[in-house]
Amino acid sequence: MSPDRGTMWPRKDGRLGVAVVGAGYWGPNLVRNFRGSANWDLVGVCDLNTDRARKVIGNRSTVEVLTDLDQVLDRDDIDAVAIATPAATHAPIALAALAAGKHVVVEKPLADTPEAAAAMVRAAEDADRVLMIDHTYCYTPAVQHIRKLIAEGVLGEILYIDSVRINLGLIQPDVDVFWDLAPHDLSILDFVLPGGLRPTSVSATGSDPLGAGRTCVGYLSMPLPGGAIAHVNVNWLSPTKIRQMVIGGSRRTLVWDDLNPQQRVSIFDRGVDLTIQAKDAKQREAATVSYRLGDITVPALKEREALSTMVDEFASAIRERRAPLTDGAAGLRVLSVLDAVSESLLIGGAPAIPTDAVDIDVAGREPAPSAVVR
Ligand SMILES: NC(=O)c1ccc[n+]([C@@H]2O[C@H](COP(=O)([O-])OP(=O)(O)OC[C@H]3O[C@@H](n4cnc5c(N)ncnc54)[C@H](O)[C@@H]3O)[C@@H](O)[C@H]2O)c1
Repeated sequence: MSPDRGTMWPRKDGRLGVAVVGAGYWGPNLVRNFRGSANWDLVGVCDLNTDRARKVIGNRSTVEVLTDLDQVLDRDDIDAVAIATPAATHAPIALAALAAGKHVVVEKPLADTPEAAAAMVRAAEDADRVLMIDHTYCYTPAVQHIRKLIAEGVLGEILYIDSVRINLGLIQPDVDVFWDLAPHDLSILDFVLPGGLRPTSVSATGSDPLGAGRTCVGYLSMPLPGGAIAHVNVNWLSPTKIRQMVIGGSRRTLVWDDLNPQQRVSIFDRGVDLTIQAKDAKQREAATVSYRLGDITVPALKEREALSTMVDEFASAIRERRAPLTDGAAGLRVLSVLDAVSESLLIGGAPAIPTDAVDIDVAGREPAPSAVVR
């Protein structure tokens, strides 16, 4: 990655310059975290609605309101662009920013189609710039710990995953409940599963019991390579809020309850052991089932805002010239699964095969470094 175009680092104060594009609901969270990071100098905020940008910046600030994207891209003191605009605008803004030599972090989802996302991944490779996706949950201490436990083999072989994300949610005007909520579950799975999320197929069923015009209650099943299965339940209509994931392993089972700050992660040394792996009915009779009733461990986790870790990871990836923990390829894998969800809904829940992210990604070229560095 050459430092000649667009990358001003190192400056005298060692910070990288960034502009946030999009100051609606989520953009202000990025603004606050870039402002609070010693790695970043927030140079400007750009929104089609300049009043919104001005309000986010507040009075008596040196951060500038930038009225259009060209103003952002023309600035030499802006090394990177953070995009928090609606999904359909991610690709055009990111492609323009990469062409101008800027590093880019994009809010989830990476784009509105896998093809647009693949174009972004290719453009980042061609421009030799970092393309990062803000899969925010991956930067929570709990999810980082879960990834570490799985990588260290503490759970053993992963057998099943059950993820529930239900509450009384805002019925979105433009996307169904899968596209609104499931990116979180899918990005977490992509982050914690060694090799990323690569289901062999995707079966989705859903319902719209209120006649809202889109799926409001959704169930998604994904067989994973090696025989495990992952299931995700998302729902905008539940009066109770649940954010739970159960990851069953051959050695231990992990329960993550994001709404329980005292005990977000519990590791159960409990499960079922079959002493003989039954291959047929006769052998099954001979199989001995035993139940393990061991300890429950609750790891002590630091409390840190995920977005502050995310913005620091973005800076480190730029400085170390490496793929970020959640790179464009991760965003593309999640998008391919979401696309397969929509396809499966159209065919009545029959399995749909996600387009292989790497196939889209590389289309006739060598695998991108970002696709193999995890
Ligand atoms: N990581 C998370 O947990 C999380 C949470 C919520 C939203 N998001 C994502 O953040 C993104 C933004 O969502 P939101 O809810 O803030 O949307 P929003 O509609 O509230 O805000 C979008 C803003 O972008 C501005 N905008 C649109 N096109 C623009 C352009 N071309 N140039 C400059 N500004 C432009 C709009 O004026 C608006 O102020 C979406 O991709 C969404 O999925 C992520």
